[in-house]
Amino acid sequence: MKFVLVALALLACAPAQGSRDAGPKKDRVPALMQRKLQQAQKVLEGVAVKDFDLIAKHAQELVDISKEAEWKVLKTPRYEIYSNEFRRNAETLIGNAREQNLDAAALSYVELTLTCVKCHKHVREVRMTRR
Ligand code: HEC
Repeated sequence: MKFVLVALALLACAPAQGSRDAGPKKDRVPALMQRKLQQAQKVLEGVAVKDFDLIAKHAQELVDISKEAEWKVLKTPRYEIYSNEFRRNAETLIGNAREQNLDAAALSYVELTLTCVKCHKHVREVRMTRR
């Protein structure tokens, strides 16, 4: 369960509070991001207690969230790449849960979490250069 501990630590790495300067319906972005965090935490719970239904259900929520308009905060190619990576990782996770493969699910969860960090890093970098 080393993976889960690493993942937990990474979850703390959300982007710093900053100006929410881009994207559609700005006011709805924070709520979406909070839902994203909650669903990711539920996925972690599923991985930790080996509840495959919980993993699949909340990974699907993450896929759906990533398709909402408010998700597209930046219009950079890299943001698009990380969005696709995020969705692909969540879909892989659903597949792992359906196959009841806990090791594979734990690994996919970590990969998903790394995508959180990569995208947030990109968001911070873009905002830094815009200031
Ligand atoms: C494709 C890019 C992308 C991915 C992947 C991504 N995020 Fe985010 N996240 C954002 C953006 C953009 C914001 C909004 C930042 C802002 O406006 O300050 C954000 C904000 C957040 C916030 C709110 C931070 C705050 O300042 O209130 C949390 C929490 C968060 N993300 C968690 C996660 C978690 C957990 C994951 C992975 C499961 C994840 N994010 C994956 C782009 C992403």
